[in-house]
Amino acid sequence: MTLAPIRRNIQELPASRIRQVTMAARGIDDVIPLWFGEGDDVTPAFIRDAAAEALHRGETFYGPNRGIPELRDAIQRYLRRIYGSEIDLGRIIVSASAMNALMIAIQCLVGHGDSAVVMGPIWPNAEHAIAAMGARVRHVDLQVQPDGSWHLDLGRLAEACDPTTRLIVVNSPSNPTGWMASEADLQGILALARERGIWILADEVYARIVYGRRHAPSFLTLAKPDDPVVVINSFSKSWSMTGWRLGWIVAPHELTVAIEKMTEFNISHPTTFVQWGGIAALDHGDDYVQTLVRRYAEAAELVYDRLSPLPRVRFSRPRSAFYAFFKVDGVADSFGYATELIQRAKVGLAPGIAFGPSGEGHLRLCFAASLPKLSQALDRLVPALR
Ligand SMILES: Cc1ncc(COP(=O)(O)O)c(C=O)c1O
Repeated sequence: MTLAPIRRNIQELPASRIRQVTMAARGIDDVIPLWFGEGDDVTPAFIRDAAAEALHRGETFYGPNRGIPELRDAIQRYLRRIYGSEIDLGRIIVSASAMNALMIAIQCLVGHGDSAVVMGPIWPNAEHAIAAMGARVRHVDLQVQPDGSWHLDLGRLAEACDPTTRLIVVNSPSNPTGWMASEADLQGILALARERGIWILADEVYARIVYGRRHAPSFLTLAKPDDPVVVINSFSKSWSMTGWRLGWIVAPHELTVAIEKMTEFNISHPTTFVQWGGIAALDHGDDYVQTLVRRYAEAAELVYDRLSPLPRVRFSRPRSAFYAFFKVDGVADSFGYATELIQRAKVGLAPGIAFGPSGEGHLRLCFAASLPKLSQALDRLVPALR
């Protein structure tokens, strides 16, 4: 029997380079894994309890595509409290994670013959979701500054857009670079999108993981309700809920109708009892987020203090997200080097090439692990990176 072909776009998608590095660690004992983007904290008890109570009282039925009204209300309250933004309830949709939100928005907005612009180095999933839909991806590289920080050149972004461009993906704060767009950057991108009729897909999952401020600059405070802007957020990072698969989308009314349809065909709706955990996180989680971010800030300092004096290592002090994305002089093959570090230092890092060609020569270390574990990992890494 000959099988009918699987779509070429899907077959051609590359395997995750981070997962490939983790394979290289198989059979090696005692590797400290800092390659994935999550910490080691279990979700706080008040959130787990709220979901468990919902499960026990029988919240096990189908619900609305857009999410349960109680959670959409909670998201609206949260956006009002944190951003001072009054977002119409009709613009809020609950998703099963940021990844699900990205995929559904991309399904609604791009297809064959279209192109989308991403700013590298970038977490690759949005790009692969775009390729899966048959659209072309154009890279605009962020520029490394002499101090190791990253900068967006708006002129280059404008040049990368042409009449086929439907979408600009903006991930700020960024994974892996920690680049945080200024309000002026966001205004510039918004002006370009308005002028050319291009959608902005803003992945703001690290919006609260910022050091020295309450939240990162956001399209939520800058865009008008009918601007071509889709803002995506997630419970994964700020409330330590990576395994729950819960997030949300803010979009103009017209697009929410399309997103609602595609939600039906992808997941119908996010898991009902899980959504009750989301309400607890938003309504009662401010202290938790603050404490977590304080710890991440300490971790950022620790990593910076230990790695930045090394002569071969170059990066700037992280101001947002929970990654150190550093260049190692003399390293041309980050995948090979990350594999080597597993053997030599027994620490698992993500290779920069996993985030696109502009990430080559870099390594990404996630510092969301507990401080003792991080400290032990650094004790092993420092001699290896010398
Ligand atoms: C930039 C970015 N967007 C989205 C996600 C995925 O978030 P979620 O767990 O909600 O799918 C991640 C996870 O690493 C990320 O780094």
